[in-house]
Amino acid sequence: MDMVRFFHMAQGLEGLGETSYAQNSRLQVVTKEVIESVMDMTLSPAMEACADVETVSIADLGCSSGRNTLSVVENVIRTVCERRREATRQLPEFMVFLNDLPSNDFNALFSLVPEFVQKLKAEHDDGGGILVSVAGAPGSFYGRLFPSRSLHFVTSFTSLHWLSQVPAGLLNKGEPINKGNVYMSPASPPSVVTRYFEQFQEDFSMFLRSRSQELVVGGRMVLSMLGRRSHDIHKKINEFPLYEALSKSLSIFVSQKMIAEEKVDSFNFPLYTPSTQELEDQVYIEGSFTIDSMKQYYHDWMFENAPNVLSKTFRAATESLICHHFGEEIIEPLFETHTRVLYERLMAEEDIGWCQITVVLCKSATRWSIYKKK
Ligand SMILES: C[S@@+](CC[C@H](N)C(=O)[O-])C[C@H]1O[C@@H](n2cnc3c(N)ncnc32)[C@H](O)[C@@H]1O
Repeated sequence: MDMVRFFHMAQGLEGLGETSYAQNSRLQVVTKEVIESVMDMTLSPAMEACADVETVSIADLGCSSGRNTLSVVENVIRTVCERRREATRQLPEFMVFLNDLPSNDFNALFSLVPEFVQKLKAEHDDGGGILVSVAGAPGSFYGRLFPSRSLHFVTSFTSLHWLSQVPAGLLNKGEPINKGNVYMSPASPPSVVTRYFEQFQEDFSMFLRSRSQELVVGGRMVLSMLGRRSHDIHKKINEFPLYEALSKSLSIFVSQKMIAEEKVDSFNFPLYTPSTQELEDQVYIEGSFTIDSMKQYYHDWMFENAPNVLSKTFRAATESLICHHFGEEIIEPLFETHTRVLYERLMAEEDIGWCQITVVLCKSATRWSIYKKK
C-alpha cells in the first residue's frame, strides 16, 4: 500500500499537496512511525476476524469521501487474500460498507469504487478472481446501521472524537457558560468539562451497543481517534493547541471588532478527546467487547513548516462548522491568523503536537459488566 496515502487517510490529511509532506524529513519520520503503528494494529485483527469466513463483511465508519478513504479496506482485503493464498485456501468474497453522515459526498466516493474493485480483481484474477461488493451506509454511527451479526471487521479512523452533538447544558439561564472557548479547554469552567464527558459517555456507549449487535462473535473493531494523554479531565493542561489557537484567533477578531463576542461565546465544537482510561472504562461498562490492544501515540509536530500543514489539516476538518456559525467571509482571514498563532507557539517552543489513541476490540460471546452504570 502507498504509505503516504495511508497516513493521509489515517490522519484525515486529505486535500493537502503531497510535496509539502515529502519536503520535510521530520514529517516523514512521524509518518512512518504512525503508519507502522496503525497498520500493525489493523491488519492482524482483520486476519483473525476473517480467518474462516466465506463472505467477509467489512465496515468503515466515518469514511469521508476522498481518494484515501478506500485505502484501509483495500489493504485489509489484500492481506486477507494473501494469507488465504499462502494457506492454499479458496479466496473469500467481500462485502464492504462505507458509512458516513448523509451529508457526506457519497457521489464522489462511489465514483472511486469501480477503479478500487478493478484493481483488487486484477491482483487476484487467477481463475475466478475475487468478488468485492461495495455499498454505502449513510447515517450516524451513534445508532444501528447494519443487520444483527452481519459484520466481521469494523474500522473507524479519526472520526470517533466527534460527538453526536454539542453537549446540552452549556447555557446557564440562556447565557453561554463556555465563554471565549470553543471546546472543553483548560480555561473552561468544570461544569463544561463535565457536560462534555457525559456526552462522550452517552455517545460511546451507544456506539458500542450498536456495534455489539452488528458484529459476529469474534469480530474485531479497530478504532483510532484523537485522544488525551492526561487521565484527569479537570487538570488544566492544554492538550489541543490547534483548538486553543482557534480560540485565540477568534478573540483577536473580537478585539478588532471583526466578529461579535456573543457569537464566539455561543460556539462550541461537538468534540471529545478521551483518555485511554476513559475508553477502557466505557468498554467494560458496556460489556460486549474485550480489549485486544490499545496504543497511545503522541504526534510531535515541532518542526518548521508544521503550523502551515497543521492549520490546513485543521481547516479541512472544521471549516464547515465554522462557516455555518460565523459565515464564509471569515474563513480565509481566520485561518491566516490561526497559522500565525501556531507559528508564535512554535517559536516560543510550546508544544503543538497531539495525541492519537488506537484500540482493538473483540466481540465477546457473552455480555458482561464489572461496573454498575452510575
Ligand atoms: C476527519 S474525517 C475522517 C475520514 C476518514 N476516516 C479518514 O481517516 O481519512 C471524519 C469523518 O467522520 C464523519 N463523522 C462524524 N461524525 C459521524 C457520525 N456520527 N456518523 C458517521 N460519520 C461521522 C465526518 O462526516 C467525516 O467524514
